[in-house]
Amino acid sequence: MKVLVTGGAGYIGSHTVKKLCELGFDVTVLDNLCLGHVDAIDKNATFVQADLLDKNGIHRKLANQKFDAVIHFAANSLVGESVEKPMKYIGDNVQMAVNLLGWMQENNINKFILSSTANLFGKPNKIPIDEDTEIIPGSPYGESKYIIERMLACLGGSNKITYTSLRYFNAAGAYKDASIGEDHKIETHLIPLVIQVALGKRDKITIFGDDYETKDGTCIRDYVHVSDLATAHILALKHLGDNNSSTVYNLGSGNGYSVKEVVDAVQKITGKAVKYEVGNRRAGDPPMLIASSNKIKKELGWVPKYDNLEKIISSAWEWHKNNPNGFRH
Ligand SMILES: NC(=O)c1ccc[n+]([C@@H]2O[C@H](COP(=O)([O-])OP(=O)(O)OC[C@H]3O[C@@H](n4cnc5c(N)ncnc54)[C@H](O)[C@@H]3O)[C@@H](O)[C@H]2O)c1
Repeated sequence: MKVLVTGGAGYIGSHTVKKLCELGFDVTVLDNLCLGHVDAIDKNATFVQADLLDKNGIHRKLANQKFDAVIHFAANSLVGESVEKPMKYIGDNVQMAVNLLGWMQENNINKFILSSTANLFGKPNKIPIDEDTEIIPGSPYGESKYIIERMLACLGGSNKITYTSLRYFNAAGAYKDASIGEDHKIETHLIPLVIQVALGKRDKITIFGDDYETKDGTCIRDYVHVSDLATAHILALKHLGDNNSSTVYNLGSGNGYSVKEVVDAVQKITGKAVKYEVGNRRAGDPPMLIASSNKIKKELGWVPKYDNLEKIISSAWEWHKNNPNGFRH
């Protein structure tokens, strides 16, 4: 199977590419490297440097190439930035998808997997969050993913495409041999930030609010290992290959851990003290987000291997302690 992976130089994309290559898929990565790293791309994949916002460039650079499916990771995905710069999200994220889907249609490629997000659900009123939970996006970033999901539903409805949308909760961890891991140019994710304090690269972290109605007052999130996410993409690809039906899945470990529990676990695993301060709540932060992934477990047989926080943080630590400055290129 020949697969085009957009954003394959980024965090989740590079882990999925590595797993696809290990399994013998023929993989081409399309990435403009604005956020990704060339060193993160598996050597067995073909790399095409292109910008998804440049419609003509995509057509030119992918001319005469045939693919069986496309996995679309490329996006801007900083929730806070999306509130300040909504057009970078509602504009660019949607435009990238429009250009990609347009190119797919012209080239008769009709299998598509989207990286979607838990941010679709904003502040949900029931936990765990399953696929029937009402969608009220929590930010322009979440809105951009919802617009793309709606676009896919229209294309799916007219049989132009068969798609799977995977709505990830909080991705974390690194590849099993720690050869690649998380290295965002602007890091906003809790686990790498806490590890940076343990590594002495950051003085302290701020916990945004400790007066939520949760077990210790801090926000609870669902951390899902990046390799378990990669496996879900491979199951979804196989399913799209065998079936002609489109669907959406929520992807989390199903376990919720508080910010303080993450800090404690990092201290335990690294053996280093982590200094923190408590700041004000951030606008829009829901107290608790935990996924129900029963649908993908039942329909595709997905089983997360990293089923607790210590396993996930130990995996992240292996990467960060050996690569404190991230990728070279
Ligand atoms: N990391 C998470 O916890 C998380 C959670 C939910 C959803 N997601 C979604 O998963 C996807 C991947 O997330 P990530 O953390 O790996 O992000 P990332 O920033 O590490 O990777 C995104 C990749 O897309 C590329 N890219 C961006 N704009 C591009 C463009 N115009 N043309 C070509 N390439 C471009 C970047 O260079 C980068 O390599 C995103 O769509 C994100 O919204 C991530």
